[in-house]
Amino acid sequence: FRTFFPVFVCYCLLFAAANIGWAAPTVIRFTHVVGNDTPKGQAALKFKDIVAERMWGRFVVEVYPNSTLFDDDQVFEAVLLDDVQMAAPSMSKFSLITKKLRVFDLPFLFQDMTAVELFQNSVEGQDLLTSFSDRGLIGLGYLHNGMKQLSANRQLSVPQDAAGLKFRVQPSDVLKAQFTAIGAEAVPKPFSQVYSLLSNGVVDGQENTWSNIYSKKFHTVQTHITESNHGVIDYMVVTSRNFWESLSPEDQRDLRTALNEAIAFANSLADKNQQDSRQHVIDSGEATVVQLSKDERAMWVEAMRPVWRQFEADIGKELIDKAVSANQ
Ligand code: LMR
Repeated sequence: FRTFFPVFVCYCLLFAAANIGWAAPTVIRFTHVVGNDTPKGQAALKFKDIVAERMWGRFVVEVYPNSTLFDDDQVFEAVLLDDVQMAAPSMSKFSLITKKLRVFDLPFLFQDMTAVELFQNSVEGQDLLTSFSDRGLIGLGYLHNGMKQLSANRQLSVPQDAAGLKFRVQPSDVLKAQFTAIGAEAVPKPFSQVYSLLSNGVVDGQENTWSNIYSKKFHTVQTHITESNHGVIDYMVVTSRNFWESLSPEDQRDLRTALNEAIAFANSLADKNQQDSRQHVIDSGEATVVQLSKDERAMWVEAMRPVWRQFEADIGKELIDKAVSANQ
């Protein structure tokens, strides 16, 4: 009787639920490649909490961090196939979907995150969210990580220091061109492999934010990190058109509100996360943090700047100008 009774109760509840038309909540799987204690990880968890609080019984958000479900190179297909309903790949990973987002990869374009945010909030920035809906995907919002730093197993103070080295890059033609411009070799690989590529010496260096460097321990397998702030890693939260259009206008509105709040929350913590991660890296004493003098920085800018011209036709000069104008 002890075994049978709970089974019987469950059966009765299911039977009752089916008869009064109770539908199981829609599951939203949110996949990403970084840890929970990062700006993206925090946004995903906050979204899950808000949905649980306000949309109980209608939606359940499941968060899969650290590439546990899908890696970067599989994520768009996974969204399109409805294996996951949301993801937030970095803008550099959209290269197969749209060429416009390449604007975010241009080296030394945004002077800081304030400029990035200003551009994202502009009409042109907002238009980018829906500029590739013909590919079956919709951007629901921008999410911050931060400015990129250059790390390697040697000191990089001037561009010549990087000549002949191999750098892991995200899969982006702009980023490849950026390293070619300084005589280095770019090796596109998924984020989940970076630590082992660095520790096995398959690549000599990489570029990433303080948050990603610290949370994935890249500083323990690199001797130097140059505080270059030469580019940005930011994200776009995406879903598939099929999934989104299958929802009622009310559900779309409520999910958007929840996501916007989660993004605002995580974005407000992103700067502090970068500063804390930077300090933890310094305190660890594992890698030396290299500062650039004004002249040294100018040399990096000069070496990488020709990349803009290479991608001007893909991105559009007006969009580049708009992004530049966000630097106040
Ligand atoms: C990377 O691949 O280096 C980053 O895009 C990872 C991430 O999602 O922050």
